[in-house]
Amino acid sequence: MSTQLQRSEQDGDESPQDQRLERKRLGESEREVQRTETESTDDETPHAHLKVFRYDPEVEGKREPRFDDFRVPASQGTTVLDALMYARDQFDSSLTFRHSCRQAVCGSDALFINGSQRLGCQTQLSDLDKPVRVEPLPHQEVEKDLVVDMEHFYDQMEAVEPYFQGDTPDGEEQLQSRENREKIKMSTRCIWCGACQSSCNIAAGDNEYLGPAAINKAYRFAMDEREADDIKAHRMNILEQEHGVWRCQTQFSCTEVCPKDIPLTEHIQEMKREAVKDNLKFW
Ligand code: SF4
Ligand code: FES
Repeated sequence: MSTQLQRSEQDGDESPQDQRLERKRLGESEREVQRTETESTDDETPHAHLKVFRYDPEVEGKREPRFDDFRVPASQGTTVLDALMYARDQFDSSLTFRHSCRQAVCGSDALFINGSQRLGCQTQLSDLDKPVRVEPLPHQEVEKDLVVDMEHFYDQMEAVEPYFQGDTPDGEEQLQSRENREKIKMSTRCIWCGACQSSCNIAAGDNEYLGPAAINKAYRFAMDEREADDIKAHRMNILEQEHGVWRCQTQFSCTEVCPKDIPLTEHIQEMKREAVKDNLKFW
């Protein structure tokens, strides 16, 4: 701790709020020195410039959204997630973002990078224009920095009952044909990252719209030949409701951003066809 900070705490004539602001000011200037030192010792390594969205509703002085600049090492293969972790570990430990697997499996680090929804761990700095702009997923409430509230997305997924409800008389083994497995294969790849939902204009304007990920999840089970007919009918009822499949306007934005290359728009269209078949009557 600097002597200046110690002195201001010993003085005892400043309010706790003033002391907090003073600590923050000193912390920022110390980090600036550290940043300069790190950069100057490492000049041979190529670097990239990140502009990272910052916001913290709980800290006075950080409630106004802003962008912070970070200069980070960027060698071949460095991902946006690597860069964020470096910025957090070297420059500002309060920089907040989600991550876990670092290999495009857990879905926790979907971000808005240079104007597009992508996984931080799957996006290499070398593929991006600089400076690299990193923001939280649009259309979701920001909790802090790059972390958004995923509650609504999970609620929409839950609404389609995303689990297998098979017909298993007497515990008999249920076999799936190769063709059926092939048909639903892509739909099973969802990692619940929320990128598709964030990219969808319809979901942005209609909070009750199930959204592409949930409809894809319903597709995964409704098109599984092992699911019982009455359960499939129940699923179709969920999809055919006012804020279900018919809301989709085939803009393909979800399909474009899905990091697992799931043909979401195609699956939504197929569920629309199923809905028409269900309701078609010949008199
Ligand atoms: S469908 Fe794709 S973009 Fe949407 S949540 Fe699943 S993996 Fe993410
Ligand atoms: S950290 Fe798990 S998907 Fe990127």
